[in-house]
Amino acid sequence: MAEIVDRVTADDEGGRIARTLLFPYLNHAANMYGVGYATAADIDAGMRFGCGYPIGPLALIDALGAKTVVDGLNEQFATTGDPLHRPDAALVEAADQGLSFTGGDEAGADVPQVKRPVSSVGVVGTGTMASGIAQVFAQAGYQVVYVGRSQEKLDGVLGYVTKNLDRAVAKGKLDADAKETILGRLTGATEREALADVDLVVEAIAEDLDIKLELFRDLDRICKPGAILATTTSSLSIKACADATSRPADVIGMHFFNPAPVMKLVEVVTTDATDADVDETVRALCLATGKHPVSCGDRAGFIVNALLFPYLNDAIKLQESGAASMEQIDTAMKETKLPMGPFELLDVVGNDVSLAIQETLVGEFGHEGWQPAESLKQVVAEGRLGRKTGAGFHTY
Ligand code: CAA
Repeated sequence: MAEIVDRVTADDEGGRIARTLLFPYLNHAANMYGVGYATAADIDAGMRFGCGYPIGPLALIDALGAKTVVDGLNEQFATTGDPLHRPDAALVEAADQGLSFTGGDEAGADVPQVKRPVSSVGVVGTGTMASGIAQVFAQAGYQVVYVGRSQEKLDGVLGYVTKNLDRAVAKGKLDADAKETILGRLTGATEREALADVDLVVEAIAEDLDIKLELFRDLDRICKPGAILATTTSSLSIKACADATSRPADVIGMHFFNPAPVMKLVEVVTTDATDADVDETVRALCLATGKHPVSCGDRAGFIVNALLFPYLNDAIKLQESGAASMEQIDTAMKETKLPMGPFELLDVVGNDVSLAIQETLVGEFGHEGWQPAESLKQVVAEGRLGRKTGAGFHTY
């Protein structure tokens, strides 16, 4: 912790880069807490378990001292005039009154219980997220039915899980029998009707509302009464998905992070209509699969993407301004103990995905300062989408 504080406050190039990028992010986290969107514990857990950060933003403000962050933001605001750099009311209050953000609301939280028994899980989709989610449930002992549009795509899911399990076997973390047992829990299907008897469906198909709505109408037709219907959308409305069914009380958001088998976070997103038992069961299931659930409302970006992507976008804009190179920025941020530099992470997430999320956030919040960086649009237009295409901001 002391090391991180030292890096962020250092009077050198790396320190300046870290402050330029982290202070607006901390400001946004203070605002998210101040307006009551999520608890301090959940905001901090979000960034720790969703992005591998060593410390959550509110704990970092406490460690740095809210006054240090307010002073830094005032300096930034004097140069940029960007309203996003004006210290948020919650931050100013903490600085003025010597308040701490952390340590308050974690105690006394009840451990969630499974209210609707779940033994079998359906996963719809065959991409990276769907494959990872199928692995998570199979590894935790659930029977998993995964649904894709072709045998080839189903083979891809099995290939992804097999590769990950083989890696675990090679490292001595899993034995060969356990690997076979886990793979034996996975059943592929090209027909959605195979989901008729599952207790929970998690969909991770294309991030396109019309496509999701068509799926939810179909799940409503196919799934048994009482089944929980979850979407892992990162930016679309859970309520819209719920309203496509005749059972909105059973619909919930379960937003996993990439790579799903590794990142411990699941954002559990409820709407006004979500049944309390569904919410509690899903949070209990997260714990049963080794994940850490955080609760948040049905708003684009939820906790993590709303905090993460504007920071990533700011990193690109800093590079565009000529103030620092990609390498300097990636290095400076890793020196603050983030697991990846922003350009490295953009390439992992996929620049097309990042651009879409950033556009959604601008749509939701309307901040001019969050407009997607020009070079983000450019790499996407050139098909440099990141690791998945062999090149993005970096070349692989
Ligand atoms: N699938 C499965 N397992 C993987 C994996 C993958 N793609 N990549 C790495 N792993 C496993 C490794 O096997 C290893 O497992 P063990 O510890 O059991 O051996 C473990 O993860 C650590 O991997 P490495 O030692 O190879 O690498 P690392 O220490 O650099 O960690 C990382 C890799 C966990 C991905 C780490 O770099 C990290 O936390 N990065 C940040 C990722 C992040 O921020 N994700 C959020 C993106 S935003 C998002 O997902 C939301 C959205 O809506 C777009």
